Parts: sequence; C-alpha cells; structure tokens
Amino acid sequence: PKHLISSADLDRGEVEAILETASSMHDVQRREVKKLPTLRGRTIINFFFEDSTRTRSSFEIAGKWMSADTINLSAKGSSTSKGESLRDSVQTINAMAVDALIIRHNQSGACHQVAGWVDASVINAGDGTHEHPTQALLDAYTLRSRIGDLDGKHVVIVGDLTHSRVFRSNVITLKTLGARVTVVAPPTLMPAGIGSWSAADGFATSWDLDEVLEGDDVPDAVMMLRVQRERMSGGFFPTPREYTVGYGLTRPRLNALLARNPRALVMHPGPMNRGLEISADAAESDASIVLDQVSSGLAVRMAVLYHLLAGEEVAS
Ligand code: CP
Repeated sequence: PKHLISSADLDRGEVEAILETASSMHDVQRREVKKLPTLRGRTIINFFFEDSTRTRSSFEIAGKWMSADTINLSAKGSSTSKGESLRDSVQTINAMAVDALIIRHNQSGACHQVAGWVDASVINAGDGTHEHPTQALLDAYTLRSRIGDLDGKHVVIVGDLTHSRVFRSNVITLKTLGARVTVVAPPTLMPAGIGSWSAADGFATSWDLDEVLEGDDVPDAVMMLRVQRERMSGGFFPTPREYTVGYGLTRPRLNALLARNPRALVMHPGPMNRGLEISADAAESDASIVLDQVSSGLAVRMAVLYHLLAGEEVAS
C-alpha cells in the first residue's frame, strides 16, 4: 500500500511481511550494522500536531538508520500556530517533494484527509481517538517475539477504550493475526456501539476485570491503556481511586494472573499513569514488556518505511 492510515489497510499477509522485515532489522537495531542505504535520497517529514515521545523519536531514528533525510515539525513552531489550516500546511510540505508525511493529529480522520491532499505516502502516527496502526504492529511484534504465533492466544485490553486509538488498532491487528481478544472498561469508558463491532469482529467485552483475569480463558497478555484525561472535557468517572480499585493492574491482581499463567505478559503503550491504571510495581515486574514495546518500535517503523517507500528497485 501507498499509505498506512488504518490497521484495516493491512491484510494478514501484509502484516506478516512487515513483522518479518522488522525481524530482519535486528542487526541495525543492535547497532551491529550502523546504517542501511535503503532510503538514501528519500525525504520523510514527521509532522506532529499533538505531543509524542516514543512515536516521533522512533520514526526519526528509523528513518535515519535507513539513510533517509528526516525532518521534524510540530504545531508549535510551525505556521499552524499562526492559524494556517491543516490542508495548507501539508500541501506546503508536499510541494517540497517529500516522500512521506508521518502525521499525528488530535482529530480522528485527519490522516485520511491528508492522504487526499498530497502525493506523498501518509503514515498515521495517531489521529484523535481513531487509530495508531504502527503501535498495533509493534505490539504484535513484541508479543510474537515472546510467545510466538498469535493464533489462538488470548490478549486482554484494559482501560479508557472510549479515547483509545491504540485499542482500536490493536483489536484489528490482533484479530488479523488470529488472536482472541477481550476488552475491559468501566461502562463510562466503553465506546458507544461496541456491541455491534465486537459481534462483527469476534472479540469479547466486559466491565469486570477480575472476572476476566480469573475466568477459564486464561490471558497470555494484559495490555493496560492510559486514562486520557486530556480528552475528558466532562470530567472523569469513575473517580481515580475507584478506577484503580476496579481496573488498575495492582500487584495483587498481577499476582493472581501470574498464579494462573506464570508466563503472562504485561503491556502498556505508554505514557503510563503510574498508580492509576498500572502500579509502579506491576510496570517494573518481570512480566512487564513495556520497554520491549518501545525497542520494537524502531524495527517495526523501519519495516513500515521500507514497505511503503523502498520500492522494487531498492528491494531487488
Ligand atoms: N505510545 C505512544 O504513541 O507514545 P507517544 O505518545 O509518546 O508517541
């Protein structure tokens, strides 16, 4: 594909191909090979209208390790702060003959719109509450490197589902790879219409985390999601204390899970609210693969850039 806007843009073969390419990037990741020449002469712009630590830096490093020229722009410091529209901003950058625009934006659907306005490949680095496809790919890569083929594995996704683009992309990619998925949230943070989506795509929903962790279908991994208070203009219900009691991955909850599956894994896309959705103890436990997720982001984003930009003449 030319763009990566939604995880649904990738069929199983394409996801597998990206994950296999990511595996082959290991030598670069370990710095045994310093740089690949693959994207020499290509220009990649990271245009971030919303803050980021992991996604922006890993796309920049991934591009540099593949010899692309990479440039970072953010809303603050660009002409967006003078009132320039998204369309004018991206068409301005596009006029500089760039090969890829990696966009993060607080509006769902922004990347889809941008793809209609520019010639460059567009990669969605997170758009509002819609999707974050490279996060889902790096999560799948991290899981596969720990527990192998995801066919039939049980992944539980817990948290503020209403505001989570990570949840939406992860459900799609995990289902594409044959995993079984259960999503858990308090009723106030369960997205409207999830019933018909879960029925169509074959994943389970629950309001009761302990019931899911203690049920017959023992989880292979639990992915905790951030409570996104910046997207809650109407206040946060339940209260932080009630949230932690009902939905936080506390040490006793993690111990209960590990008693049933000693190899169960703890994931979080970051940034974490320690003490709210995950305790510091759980985040730093041996079960936690939070920093592996970050490391995987480099290999996976190199692989995504390769598949979108390298073209046959570079691959052959
Ligand atoms: N997981 C994630 O997208 O993190 P950043 O917001 O730091 O990029």
